[in-house]
Amino acid sequence: MRSCKEVPNNSVVFLRTGMDVPLDNGKITDPSRIEETRPTIDVLRTKGCKIIIATHIGRPKGKDSSLSAKPVADYLSQYYPVHFVPEVKGDAVHAAVQQANKADLIVIENLRYDEREEKNDAVFAQDLIRHADVIVQDAYANCHREHASMTGVTKYKPAFAGLLLEKELHMMKSLEHPAHPYVAIIGGAKADKLSTIRGLLKKVDTVLVGGVLANTFLKAIGKPVGNSKTDDTGLAEAKELYASGKILLPIDAVVAEKFAADSAAQVLPIEQIQHGMILDIGPQTQKKYIATLEKAKTIVWGGPIGVFEWPQFAEGTKEVAMAVALNPGFTLAAGGDSGAALVALGFKDNMSHVSTGGGVTLQLLEGKPLPAVVALEENAKQFHKEWNGTGADFTC
Ligand code: 3PG
Repeated sequence: MRSCKEVPNNSVVFLRTGMDVPLDNGKITDPSRIEETRPTIDVLRTKGCKIIIATHIGRPKGKDSSLSAKPVADYLSQYYPVHFVPEVKGDAVHAAVQQANKADLIVIENLRYDEREEKNDAVFAQDLIRHADVIVQDAYANCHREHASMTGVTKYKPAFAGLLLEKELHMMKSLEHPAHPYVAIIGGAKADKLSTIRGLLKKVDTVLVGGVLANTFLKAIGKPVGNSKTDDTGLAEAKELYASGKILLPIDAVVAEKFAADSAAQVLPIEQIQHGMILDIGPQTQKKYIATLEKAKTIVWGGPIGVFEWPQFAEGTKEVAMAVALNPGFTLAAGGDSGAALVALGFKDNMSHVSTGGGVTLQLLEGKPLPAVVALEENAKQFHKEWNGTGADFTC
């Protein structure tokens, strides 16, 4: 892989970013993913490049104005000269590139407004980069996706890694030879993380489980979970993974009558849960998890332990976040929600690294290659034959 520091001066750059920021009524509620991309933008601007900024936001089904990239363009315009084009490709993008001065930004619309992005359509990929000389890939958070702007475009023009992508892969390299005990905390609302746990079990000493995933494990081993959300398709696999002896599950929980911030709730030992929904771990589980975290020399954390956005279900995530932040070993948090929890609780600066990527980081932890990184390596062989190997060189 070559670094964006090697992009030729005065190029027109197609910069694929991961500016998939949370939006609330058109307002960006956490601009971290934009801020983290600014070093790449700054390097390209010092080279006099015109920069076409591309990102996806959310998962729109066609054109959905609530997921427009316009707020991203507005945010960037506090720092840079920005032209916003309400199209993903075509004449309007071409005209904006022509009109732009050196070092200007041209922000195009949400890539997923066109369904061909996720289908990795070859014609769409070529259209995206028609007006660019080179590609810079900086969307680390999306590198597990085989989409047109991720793995499609790199077949046609020279591509380089952005500084955020380099930094993220470099931090992940630190986990190749982790100090032990190595502990993973896997939580969050998505129940589909069993394959991540399977991969992690080969490397870690203990996995602490929270969120919806914990409910699935509890149910799988025959514990009562009331009306809690579970992933019943994963019960057999969860039971098999639990037999590894490396998985710690909640022994008590904060149980709500319904899924609402102001729901009546009580702390119950897991054995006593008859109905209601588990929305956080209880104090005994906190103690058990914290005792494990205190001994750890390496910790990776993906996903909040409870519904931390609602104060009465935030305690478990808070206590776990504090234990991770105070640990003097290598500590890495993956994903928007874990990052948001750390920022909200004021612990972000105590971490070795807070990654911009969630699913992608879990895929790497699972031991699977990232298609967009593989695509950059292929691109280097195809377009950079003269390369002497002095640029960024990360594999995973
Ligand atoms: C993320 O938020 O993890 C990335 O932007 C990927 O988004 P996706 O899961 O919608 O592909």
